[in-house]
Amino acid sequence: MAIIDLFDAHAPLVVEPLELPLFVEKKLKVLIVRADLVHPLISGNKWFKLKYNLLAACKQNVSRVISFGGPYSNHIHALAWSAQQLGIDSVGVIRGEEVSNPMLADAQKWGMQLHFVDRANYRERHDPIWQAQLKQDVGSGVIIPEGGSNALAVRGVAELMRGILAQLPDLDYLLCACGTGGTLAGLISAAPESVKLEGFPVLKGAGFLQDDVLKLLKVAGVDAHCPWSLDLDAHYGGYGKIRKDHKEHWLAMEEQFQILFDPVYTSKLLRRFLEKVEQGMYPAGATVALLHSGGVQGRRSIV
Ligand SMILES: Cc1ncc(COP(=O)(O)O)c(C=O)c1O
Repeated sequence: MAIIDLFDAHAPLVVEPLELPLFVEKKLKVLIVRADLVHPLISGNKWFKLKYNLLAACKQNVSRVISFGGPYSNHIHALAWSAQQLGIDSVGVIRGEEVSNPMLADAQKWGMQLHFVDRANYRERHDPIWQAQLKQDVGSGVIIPEGGSNALAVRGVAELMRGILAQLPDLDYLLCACGTGGTLAGLISAAPESVKLEGFPVLKGAGFLQDDVLKLLKVAGVDAHCPWSLDLDAHYGGYGKIRKDHKEHWLAMEEQFQILFDPVYTSKLLRRFLEKVEQGMYPAGATVALLHSGGVQGRRSIV
């Protein structure tokens, strides 16, 4: 398949109202941006983050892409499928000891070579010397960073922001879950000063993302025009930790809104947002949109 067929256009971006008596009480207009629906296999933010990465790989006739993720990574899942569609070999460097699960089985089925590295080694993944050794082990190729987050991802996610603004010109707040901060950086890069962007890291102690987002904006050559902030209370125990209370909340919200959320990112974004609404953190009359960044395949890790 040519890149143009895969990334030329996505399904129309759906923006839906989210309705709860709480929102009426607080006089808020709340919407959800269903980026999870833009593509069945390159879901949510992945479509936008991978678009220009894979376009560049195709233009340069790259034969192999190498990237990184945990054993349930939505990024690895989307990359394995799209690389196969484009006839590019792919390698997934997976954090932790060798395991098997439905996500990794999909990736292998789509031809991805899996390379497990222990956590200590995984921490070296940004080091050029470590990367050179990695290429000796798995074969040469272009490295796409964890989560796909680089300048090319920022450029792709900026298109998502423009799509959101086209439908919500009076938007006051846009909220997204954060892992590496690439999605937030892309949204910031195209947001006008009238929109406040809030990132909700799902890692504990993720204050470092403040710098990471600024670095991403810098490498992408763009400035922030909008106010933006991080809310560091959305981790509910830490990355990938799904405590009993969170599982109950997440599944109850799926039932309430009749929308599937993933356990690691969007369910925590929604939970923290609801807490902030209860606490009166958004002014009456505000229009608030939450980004559903996809990753619903990750539900298979829990349910
Ligand atoms: C479903 C989902 N939402 C949000 C994120 C966070 O995106 P980012 O790493 O760009 O901050 C991820 C991670 O890649 C994800 O899989």
